[in-house]
Parts: sequence; C-alpha cells; structure tokens
Amino acid sequence: MTPQVHLHETPQALAEAFAGHLAARVQAQPGPFHLALSGGSTPQLLFSLLAGPYHARLPWERLHLWWGDERCVPPSHPESNYGVADALLIRHVPLPAANVHRILGEAEPQDEARRYASELAAWLPSERGYPVFDLILLGMGADGHTASIFPHQMELLHAAPACAVGTHPESGQLRVTFTGPLLNNAREAAFLVTGASKADKVAAILGHAPAAQAYPAAHIQPAGGTVAWWLDAEAAARL
Ligand code: 6PG
Repeated sequence: MTPQVHLHETPQALAEAFAGHLAARVQAQPGPFHLALSGGSTPQLLFSLLAGPYHARLPWERLHLWWGDERCVPPSHPESNYGVADALLIRHVPLPAANVHRILGEAEPQDEARRYASELAAWLPSERGYPVFDLILLGMGADGHTASIFPHQMELLHAAPACAVGTHPESGQLRVTFTGPLLNNAREAAFLVTGASKADKVAAILGHAPAAQAYPAAHIQPAGGTVAWWLDAEAAARL
C-alpha cells in the first residue's frame, strides 16, 4: 500500500489542515467515531485548534477519545499524555465523560495493558481478531519509534495482545502502548510529524530504504485501511 503524503509549510498549517480532515471524517461517519490520540509535543497544536476555532465543527457527543500510548505516571504528571490532552482539549469541549477512555498511567502497567485491551474490546467493533479504530493519530520519534514501540522492542509490532508494556530506551520509563496488530487494524493511521530531527527517518521510511526496517514507524501499514504521513517542510526536507 502506498502511503498518502500531505505536506504543509509549518507545524501550524499542518495542524490546521489535519483538524479540517478530522472534522470532515467525523462528520461523514454516522454513529460513534473512535479516535486514538498520540502523545508527545506534536499534537498539542492540533488539540488547541480543536478546542478553539474547530470547536463547532466536531460532533463531540459521537467522538470517543483513546490513547495509542501512555506514560506510566499519574494523570497530573507533566509527562502524562492524557494530562496534556485534558489541559488543551478535553476540559474545553462538550465531550461526554464516558467518551474519554484514558489509560490509567497510575496503575500497575501489565494489569493496565490487559484492562485497556478489555475496554477496547468492549467498545470498538472487531475485525481480524482485533478492535478497529476509525482513526489512530501517531507521532514518530527521532529514532523511528511510534506509540511506545521503540527500536529495541520490535517484538511489540507482532505481540498478540492489543496492548502491551513498552520501555523508553534512555529513561527506562514504562509505557502502556498499542501493539502492531492493533495499530495495523485501523481504518486509518495518520502520522503527524514535524521538525528537522525527523527528516532522515521520514525519508528512509517513505523511500523504502533497507535501514527503515529497523524503525517501528515503518511497519505501520493497516491491512484493511490507509496510512498517511502529514509532514511539515522540515520533516519532509529529505524527501
Ligand atoms: C509519546 C508518543 C510518541 C510520540 C513521539 C513523537 O507518548 O511520546 O506517543 O510516540 O508521538 O515520541 O513525539 P514528539 O511529537 O514530541 O516529537
């Protein structure tokens, strides 16, 4: 499958374009829309846009928020992906509390990976043995990781459970993460990638370089869906 590539000059322009795409996707689909958010810094511009100028363009009562990964810290911790989304988006929009499905970063990680997989199975339709997301938003680290599947844990790309525990290679921080089979079961996977530090890996992945096989992000190609790369000029500079 050939990934779709969307290029925009700046992170702000990229976030605005993706916000419009997301609004159109949710509006076009009746019933619940299950969206998994990524963590890190890149999606923060998007969160602010959705809470602000795009607020009226989303049917919040039909939207369900999930997380593709979460740091194993309490929600009040500055590194909590849920905490960042809550501060920038959730508390500013009329999203029913029942539609916010956070990973309990404060829980025992292995127990929480199992619990979250059960919650996913209870709420989402299932195909090919895994829950099916309408859209999974992903970032990519400078090392080519995505969600919390890092290059030293490539086995998580093929792990049987829908969720597992990953480990940050430098800090050792534990993370609950979607595994490859769940990520690759989405109707749509969308990478939102900005900054010069990502340019080499983006070019290797989209150019099908042999080295890209060592980058987890290169392995996200939904069997029954699409994958798109939404890039700013810096991240696309080596294409
Ligand atoms: C996380 C992520 C992770 C992130 C990348 C990119 O919890 O950190 O989900 O996969 O998307 O590390 O992070 P930046 O957007 O901060 O570069």
